[in-house]
Amino acid sequence: MWSAFLESLEFSSLGLAARGSVWLYPLANLAHVVGATFLVGAILVFDLLLLRRRYDMASAVSRTALGVAATGLALLLISGPIMFSAEATAFGRNPVFLGKMLLIICGLANLSLYHWAKRRTMLAPPIPANARLHAGVSASAWILAVIAGRSIAYF
Ligand code: HEM
Repeated sequence: MWSAFLESLEFSSLGLAARGSVWLYPLANLAHVVGATFLVGAILVFDLLLLRRRYDMASAVSRTALGVAATGLALLLISGPIMFSAEATAFGRNPVFLGKMLLIICGLANLSLYHWAKRRTMLAPPIPANARLHAGVSASAWILAVIAGRSIAYF
């Protein structure tokens, strides 16, 4: 089933365009790197402020950081499938690519849990009790996702 999906994607019009066009893959790769910079850069600033217990500053930057991170995620979720479709049968069996997807799921699940916990907290500013644990998991997952992303080409 997974192999059939990978093959159908690789030979889809998107896969053919990603391989055949001189500009589509390079543009997607560029958007991917800019997206990763926005997403992980913004999240790391917020995480480091939480880890340093600078909750006031973390709350102050949270809206801007979330906006930059969301823009980065949008760029990644558009450009990633374009690159993936070019060599789907290879990427879909690449252990580093699959590991990166697990790290991304971990990062997004942690983010959702953090915002869920934040809504329930009675503290002012609304920082969950285990915010530093969330920040540690978040920083680790996203940094490792970038390292895995860059390493895909070598496996
Ligand atoms: C959401 C968080 C994501 C992050 C932080 C991320 C990060 C990265 C980074 C830093 C690279 C190396 C780019 C380079 O140096 O050229 C990369 C490569 C890649 N990413 Fe992502 N990525 C994300 C999501 C995705 C998604 C959702 C997909 C596909 C569904 C994807 C598919 C790929 C592919 C196929 C490559 C290899 C490109 C190549 O080696 O030519 N990525 N990623």
